[in-house]
Amino acid sequence: MNSDRIRLPSLLEKVKSADEAAALIKDGMTVGMSGFTRAGEAKAVPLALVERAKKDPLKITLVTGASLGNDIDKKLTEVGALARRLPFQADNTLRKAINDGQVMFIDQHLSETVEQMRANQIARPDIAVVEAVSITEKGHIVPTTSVGNSANFVQFAKQVIVEINTTLSPELEGLHDIYLQEERPNRTPVNLLKPDDRIGTTAIEVDPSKIVAIVFSDLSDSPSNALPADSETQAIADHLIEFLKKEVDAGRLPNSLRPLQVGIGTIANAVTSGLVKSPFTDLVQYSEVLQDSTFELLDAGKLKFASGSSITISAPCAERVFGNVAKYKDKLVLRPQEISNLPEIVRRLGTISINTALEFDIYGNVNSTHVSGSKMMNGIGGSGDFARNAQLAVFVTKSTAKGGAISSVVPMVSHVDHTGHDTDILVTEIGLADLRGLAPRERARAIIDNCVHPDYRFALNDYFERACAKGGQTPHILREALEWHINLEERGNMLSKG
Ligand code: COA
Repeated sequence: MNSDRIRLPSLLEKVKSADEAAALIKDGMTVGMSGFTRAGEAKAVPLALVERAKKDPLKITLVTGASLGNDIDKKLTEVGALARRLPFQADNTLRKAINDGQVMFIDQHLSETVEQMRANQIARPDIAVVEAVSITEKGHIVPTTSVGNSANFVQFAKQVIVEINTTLSPELEGLHDIYLQEERPNRTPVNLLKPDDRIGTTAIEVDPSKIVAIVFSDLSDSPSNALPADSETQAIADHLIEFLKKEVDAGRLPNSLRPLQVGIGTIANAVTSGLVKSPFTDLVQYSEVLQDSTFELLDAGKLKFASGSSITISAPCAERVFGNVAKYKDKLVLRPQEISNLPEIVRRLGTISINTALEFDIYGNVNSTHVSGSKMMNGIGGSGDFARNAQLAVFVTKSTAKGGAISSVVPMVSHVDHTGHDTDILVTEIGLADLRGLAPRERARAIIDNCVHPDYRFALNDYFERACAKGGQTPHILREALEWHINLEERGNMLSKG
């Protein structure tokens, strides 16, 4: 068994227990772990670290690809083991610790973390812990359901722990395309011309002497937590698909559209699922997370190929896909996140990028991260890598939140992740605003007329008209611009005047 999964015999002696491997992680270390949107994270070693921290407290800087499954962020937070965390998370307990100021969270564009390590702007990992399906004859590491930052962590770290997940088929070998960018200033362009191009290796190259421990684990990825579409998410999907049909009719898009990037979550998943019944054909994805909808589209023959950095799917979908790897392997590739999210490739391919906003304002500035301007939700993730560079940057959200107490369309966003310069199309269940080529006052008209919930339309219109009377390229009444957020904080409702 061990020699099937560890094909370089000299590494067999590195097999250790999770506790022994976790003991190699010392207080104060920067630890680079695999894992991207609940897929492919190392599991046994961090869980052993949690147990160890209960007896022998320590604090680490934890760097991953993106969010982790198996409640690893929650458990590490509960034992106080996280001093710093980057570049993304999506866990309630960690979110609270971040917002209480107990964990320092560095919210980053997902393509940038390893770039900053390469330039020594942030600390490189002392130790890397990466999940694998196997280790090759050369001692190279074959990742599992995500690549994320794993290859770069392995390159940068002094020591590497490999966690072999025996629940996943070794047939996953060949799914990954590992390409590492060179150091500046002599870096050459990334020669990836189409989403299905392969430009790297199928395993993470490493000097086998850096591998200090190999741990076997039989823990599975946590299933995706995207909810089924409801009437509002379905309406959002319908508006967007109608818009894309009109773009094809107008000759601005081919019937195969452009490579699609779709963010994580219920709305984004519903939009992609909606494409199953659309007239578009020969679609391709150049995305970061491949969700259930990717496999629905592949099965329906609508999607030709999907490139991503992780596969985050529900339990039934995982059974279908990982139980039948051969059926899907030649239609998929998983890449390092600095390649899946590389702004230069996104711009060149001209992606259609669909991400979710918490709120947007009448001029099209988008807040994806901070509730009421100060409380971190998850992080910007890859949305900025894509939105600034996409051919069509689309943001979707329901028009209200918390039973209608919150309007997702506000006079001024309480925090800006994507400025109006980066946003083309905004969609709520009410309708779609096409902002392309519009000046700020025209953008406001399009957004108020198409996206706002009727309960908030009058108030938003009133604000905009009074702001216009004062003048300006982007009219605002500064005393009132954040009043809706202040109402929410003080009275629990955006329009309540008390
Ligand atoms: N103010 C306060 N809370 C709001 C809100 C607003 N304007 N809009 C939504 N919310 C709340 C919802 O009520 C919900 O709360 P709950 O968890 O207590 O039920 C929560 O935010 C999530 O909203 P939901 O509508 O369920 O959407 P989602 O799960 O798809 O998440 C984001 C939306 C914006 C938080 C999520 O997409 C995200 O983190 N995006 C940034 C990262 C990103 O875009 N990555 C893309 C590449 S993967």
